[in-house]
Amino acid sequence: MNSFPAAPAANPLGGSIQDYLTRPSPDLAEKARAFCAWYDARVAQGGFPYGKQLLATPGAETSVQHADGLVTHGINFASQDYLGLSTHPSIREAALDAMDRYGVHSGGSPTLAGGVSLCGPLCELIGEQLKMPYVMLSPTGWAAGYGLLRGLVRETDHVIIDQLAHNCLHEGAAASTRQVHVFRHLDVNHARLKLGAIRARDTRGGILVVTESLFSMDADSPDLAAFQKLCREFNATLVVDVAHDFGCTGPGGTGEIGRQQMLGQIDLVIGTFSKTFATNGGFVATHRREIREYLRHLSPSTTFSSAISPLQVAIAHAALRLVRSEEGAQRRLQLANAVATLREELASRDVELMGRPAPMVPVLIGRDDVARTAVRLLAEMGVVTNLIEYPAVSRATARFRLQVMSSHTSEMCREAAGKVARAILSAREVCSSATRAVAV
Ligand SMILES: Cc1ncc(COP(=O)(O)O)c(C=O)c1O
Repeated sequence: MNSFPAAPAANPLGGSIQDYLTRPSPDLAEKARAFCAWYDARVAQGGFPYGKQLLATPGAETSVQHADGLVTHGINFASQDYLGLSTHPSIREAALDAMDRYGVHSGGSPTLAGGVSLCGPLCELIGEQLKMPYVMLSPTGWAAGYGLLRGLVRETDHVIIDQLAHNCLHEGAAASTRQVHVFRHLDVNHARLKLGAIRARDTRGGILVVTESLFSMDADSPDLAAFQKLCREFNATLVVDVAHDFGCTGPGGTGEIGRQQMLGQIDLVIGTFSKTFATNGGFVATHRREIREYLRHLSPSTTFSSAISPLQVAIAHAALRLVRSEEGAQRRLQLANAVATLREELASRDVELMGRPAPMVPVLIGRDDVARTAVRLLAEMGVVTNLIEYPAVSRATARFRLQVMSSHTSEMCREAAGKVARAILSAREVCSSATRAVAV
């Protein structure tokens, strides 16, 4: 069963992708060559859990093939489909209808003729759900986040951003202005210090304050009212990324914004369809028509990219209708129950959990070598999950991020919790005996 080598020779269980970002050489590919050697060693070791390929639908159980060929068939906590809508019959029907009506391809940018007539009703429904009347669609959530920042922020403006905000937001900030200020995770007082310092010397520049409603690596949330109030005080604009909670948590699926009673009160919201709405695609929502029209023409990842496809639009529309229905409420309840069971079962086995109950359950492991060994053992035991390691999270805080679906049963949660606990325990033993062997 356990094919993991006990004492790695060249230690591919150490190091990180970060080590290969820069490597001075006239040959631009030198860093890629060095990275590839490390990658190959990790794959050979069996400790490379990325780039898994699905052999079946990404449901609560699935089959995946790992980079070294290992096939795992079992309980799946590695896919993002929080309400399990990707296999819902009305989603399938909506996709087939859209295919019949519009074909499979958008055929161009939304700025030209790539948008289909169903985009309007989808935007209206998102607007109703968020109490924000103006909505723009993007081909992905990443494009929505990047495009909002790149579209709105200029060199003379500032971005104040949570240190753990998603890559699309940090990339958008870095591409838009050199005046990017990072505040400590969730820390509204630290953001206040940054805002105060900026406004003391610059009353003319725009300031965008950027955060998420639910951080998926940590399962925690900011105080949205406090951030919005701060922005009003300093004449700044707040943007909140609702990727991981919109639709799958909160009253009526309004997410953390609804849970914190801030519906319709946030300046700008970005979101994605890829976690709860069973398809690719994203959106920006605003209270101001002029912002939407401006972004439509000046948000590069939307303007200069092909529009979200007709199938994606139809699926997102059908999924949002389900989210707003009685069935959606039922699925949210099932999801919350599955999360509660999984957390209880893990905690009762002394597994260290992070954050609060949310659709993802982060399990802290710590050392990279232990985490890389554990994720492989878990795959061999028939549980599919994702390992998050540095630089996606800070050093020595490697973790599993178990993404829960409404279709995970209590039995699945119990079985998976037992295996997670066993995998981490065995991995600690394997790695400490390897460390002892090196010391001798
Ligand atoms: C917070 C956050 N924002 C944006 C995105 C990007 O969304 P998409 O996968 O639709 O491009 C993600 C996805 O990982 C995310 O977690």
